[in-house]
Amino acid sequence: MILSTRFANLTLLVSLAPLLHLAQAWPAVYPEPPPGPLELDGTKLVNDAAHPWRPTQPGDTRGPCPALNTLASHGYLPRNGVATPKQLINAVMEGFNMNNKLAIFVTYAAMLVDGNLVTNLISIGSKAPRTGPDFHGAVPAGGLNTPGFGVEGDASLLRGDAYFGDNHSFNQTLWDEFVDYSNHFGGGYYNLTVAAELRHRAIQRSIATNPNFTFVAPRYFTAYAESALIIGAFLDGRNTDAERKIPMDVALGFFRDSRMPADFHRAAKPTGNDGVVEIFSAHPISPGGNVVRTWRSFCVLYENFVQKTVKRLYPNPTGVVRRNLILNLQYFYSGQPSVAGCTQLFPYGQL
Ligand code: HEM
Repeated sequence: MILSTRFANLTLLVSLAPLLHLAQAWPAVYPEPPPGPLELDGTKLVNDAAHPWRPTQPGDTRGPCPALNTLASHGYLPRNGVATPKQLINAVMEGFNMNNKLAIFVTYAAMLVDGNLVTNLISIGSKAPRTGPDFHGAVPAGGLNTPGFGVEGDASLLRGDAYFGDNHSFNQTLWDEFVDYSNHFGGGYYNLTVAAELRHRAIQRSIATNPNFTFVAPRYFTAYAESALIIGAFLDGRNTDAERKIPMDVALGFFRDSRMPADFHRAAKPTGNDGVVEIFSAHPISPGGNVVRTWRSFCVLYENFVQKTVKRLYPNPTGVVRRNLILNLQYFYSGQPSVAGCTQLFPYGQL
């Protein structure tokens, strides 16, 4: 009798073991608030001895963002490509001098749709086991490669549309076009004029070839922002030329190899998407099926993202998932530009 009870207990323990292990290995994390701005926010050597470029190892992930790929390959982010929001924000500020608010805003936008809200981890590429299991009530944490939620989207400059199968790898045909446009409009460099023409070209190409093409907020905004960010972040911070322009070998290093040039210094001051209005104004178009009419409708982006994208993904969250949604939405809101003044939304109440 004693033996059979012991046996039953043992069987129970063995059958519960994977679950116990899961709970111990993946505790529900209380997401810490985002870090503030850098104390010393000038230029400095960032391709330094402490951050050497290294090739990826089996199991490492990289994705559609050349900046995050580069930061992972230089060790500003975990080299395996899985990070917390705090690590992402610190890395883009430290490595590229991205301004604190923008870093917060894009990081939490990504975290809310592509991250694991329970473990507080996100993959910068494909879905990665390192972000933790799929918890009940939370969306599968697919990583930044995930299309369809408006963070990764169509009409990228050097990555194809998801419709064609690969939305995250460096695309040689698009790179050839990038070089052609830089030669034609920028004398062999990527500058604001090239950015405007190439952004227009990428949109027109997707309209013409992709029957599923969609271009509404937030992708409508991020597409223009990315075109501008290239100049702000990939220009060496010691460069004082009035014309801000990126040589092709430097661009190729970032986009294809996730690699900073030797001796690379980050931007001289906190940088964002300066120039984005010029890029938009060169060929203004309306977003497909949306109400936004100008680039300045920032609060529409915020409202759409919260009320449509996030609410659709999480219609009725409970427990830790609801708590962490409320916190991540709070942090996301804190990253809006100071001038925007959007009214804060609380789709899941407050803590
Ligand atoms: C934590 C901050 C960041 C996050 C979460 C993030 C996320 C992303 C994502 C999801 C994409 C894919 C969008 C698409 O479909 O094209 C992307 C693309 C891009 N990102 Fe980032 N990014 C961040 C910071 C930066 C920074 C600092 C730069 C500065 C250069 C940058 C430059 C770009 C560019 C140029 C693309 C477009 C690539 C292409 O069109 O081929 N990002 N980013």
